[in-house]
Amino acid sequence: MALDLDYVRAQFPALKNDWIFMDNAGGSQILKGVVDRISEYYYSNNVQLGGSYQISQDALAAFQQGRADIATLFNASRPEEIVFGPSTTILLQFLSKAMVNQFRAGDEVIVTITDHESNIGPWTWLEERGVIVKFWPMNKETYELELEALDALMTEKTRLVAVTHVSNLLGTINPIKEIASFVHDRGAKICVDAVAYAPHRAVDVQDWNVDFYALSLYKTYGPHHAALYCRYDHMKELDNLYHYFYGRDKIPAKMEPGNANYELSYGSGAIVDYLASLGEQAGETGSRRKKIEAAFKDIEAQEAAIGERLLSYLRKRNDCTILGIRDGRDPRRVPTIAFTVQGQDPEKICLDMDKYKIAIRFGDFHARRLGDALGITKDNGAVRVSLTHYNTLEEVDRLIAALDDILGK
Ligand SMILES: Cc1ncc(COP(=O)(O)O)c(C=O)c1O
Repeated sequence: MALDLDYVRAQFPALKNDWIFMDNAGGSQILKGVVDRISEYYYSNNVQLGGSYQISQDALAAFQQGRADIATLFNASRPEEIVFGPSTTILLQFLSKAMVNQFRAGDEVIVTITDHESNIGPWTWLEERGVIVKFWPMNKETYELELEALDALMTEKTRLVAVTHVSNLLGTINPIKEIASFVHDRGAKICVDAVAYAPHRAVDVQDWNVDFYALSLYKTYGPHHAALYCRYDHMKELDNLYHYFYGRDKIPAKMEPGNANYELSYGSGAIVDYLASLGEQAGETGSRRKKIEAAFKDIEAQEAAIGERLLSYLRKRNDCTILGIRDGRDPRRVPTIAFTVQGQDPEKICLDMDKYKIAIRFGDFHARRLGDALGITKDNGAVRVSLTHYNTLEEVDRLIAALDDILGK
């Protein structure tokens, strides 16, 4: 069934703005349900947790509700597997810090050049402990990560592979279930950056059997907040980052030093309510998980339609180079579409686009090593149009008309 776009767009009040938002991989618009929950928390429960009095107990229940909701979004087996934090960057830095004592000199970690720096930097820091960091190269023609190349890098000393689920520049989905199984067969763990994946497809950490999995809620229709999944047995092994007297058993608070942001954690739960409502509209009557999965089927179809509309235009222009898969209907692609235009500065294209009130972005999007490998960093990177399910074909047509004006037909 097709998404009811009137319903969808009504859930995002900011879409009434006369701007067209096509920088969703930078940050999506926020759901009204999320803002409502945040205000509800502030107006009813805004006290410190841990008090014996009733409102403090209510605040704790709201915080726990948020964690349970986000566990449903990940399909985690229990809420305690979810760690909240201000950003994916910080959560992955915390993870590397909490794992540091699991590494010995000579151990190996593999990172990819296609990742955002958030899932590279924290692992390269282990070099200070004598850990050897290797880079999983991409195929230079297809820009894809191949298991044969990973196989060539892995040894019995490999402890961890850190890889993105979707490149925020190329929009290519990596086969995470297959990669996780490959990595586990060789005795290592896998840490996945899902920031550019989670807004577009259903997450299922149990089905894929990943060890660590992080996403940013502000790109997934929520607030500036992030969540990290740590499989429970691994969570138990992580060092305590909180006060010494809490110890390792304080799960997951040992990974949330200080206070987590209660209101944003509770508010984020409304993302799941929204997805479940889309699933119901698609006719799914089962569990909330089933509804989320049904919602993402419709989201995928809408995204394929709008992505392909733009990509078919870019394919016809002989001055444009599309970075990543060229077919918008390819199931391995999300509509995060980056391209360069011969002889044109990406910054100027974006600045020119401002007068059409279409928000797009240029640069390397903090995937600096990928930008360098593609040879685009020195030229202001690429233009990125990052669509999501609430964008419409009409909006894409307005973008195409603006591109025709700016670049010439
Ligand atoms: C793929 C990817 N990973 C990680 C990040 C960093 O996320 P955060 O801003 O939550 O630290 C981003 C942000 O753009 C991203 O696109």
